Amino acid sequence: MLLTLGLLISFFSFLYMIAPSIRKFFAGGICRTSVQLPGKVVVVTGANTGIGKETARELARRGARVYIACRDVLKGESAASEIRADTKNSQVLVRKLDLSDTKSIRAFAEGFLAEEKQLHLLINNAGVMMCPYSKTTDGFETHIGVNHLGTGVTTYSVHPGIVSSELVRHSFILCLLWRLFSLFLKSAQEGTQTTLHCALAEDLEPQSGKYFSDCKKSWVCPRARNNKTAERLWTVSCDLLGIHW
Ligand SMILES: NC(=O)c1ccc[n+]([C@@H]2O[C@H](COP(=O)([O-])OP(=O)(O)OC[C@H]3O[C@@H](n4cnc5c(N)ncnc54)[C@H](OP(=O)(O)O)[C@@H]3O)[C@@H](O)[C@H]2O)c1
Repeated sequence: MLLTLGLLISFFSFLYMIAPSIRKFFAGGICRTSVQLPGKVVVVTGANTGIGKETARELARRGARVYIACRDVLKGESAASEIRADTKNSQVLVRKLDLSDTKSIRAFAEGFLAEEKQLHLLINNAGVMMCPYSKTTDGFETHIGVNHLGTGVTTYSVHPGIVSSELVRHSFILCLLWRLFSLFLKSAQEGTQTTLHCALAEDLEPQSGKYFSDCKKSWVCPRARNNKTAERLWTVSCDLLGIHW
């Protein structure tokens, strides 16, 4: 009994000692560009919390005018005032955007076009995971409606890693696991590094459309690289949304 206790104490002491190295290992890639963004206009969807909020913070810190596009304007305002105070950038604005409602998406786009001449960076960050079965205002299953149809087509796809955020809020088990293994998860600030890398690095133009993880191009399974499947997905998505090009 004493021996087991001794071993357990040694194990946890050891874990505690090497915790900083473990954190560093799991933190992943870092966006190293020092690009500044004065005069640039940025939209970050779902920037009231999690990875999106940290993305908005960093882009504001670099001098951009940042639109926080979110479904809950009050939550957005609270994030915006925190970011304004932190970055001393007053150009952090909140606009309503609910990706589960195409009317809201169109209204957001019209409002934005009336306010701005150009959009330099669009960060399609908002998303949901494991929410109970439900449908969007337009009658699509929520995951497909918000994550795919609502968000539209992205230029780059990124995987942020396993990040401590509110994404797991709908699953009790995942919330528990996220807490237990919090030491091994990225923080939201670490989670935004690949997004920032793709948005800011100056030599990525020829790699448009590729998939990135930990600030570098990453492997994609053959099914996801199939052009015919991609074309079909595009056509079906446009049909579902009633969009004709
Ligand atoms: N965390 C991870 O380990 C992980 C791993 C892989 C991919 N990702 C992706 O990274 C992105 C950011 O996730 P996160 O971890 O930061 O999660 P999060 O903390 O849950 O943030 C998600 C954001 O999306 C917003 N959102 C959800 N539904 C929306 C809707 N219908 N309209 C507008 N905004 C909506 C949320 O707004 P509310 O606060 O109002 O709900 C929130 O601001 C997501 O696309 C997620 O799939 C995350």
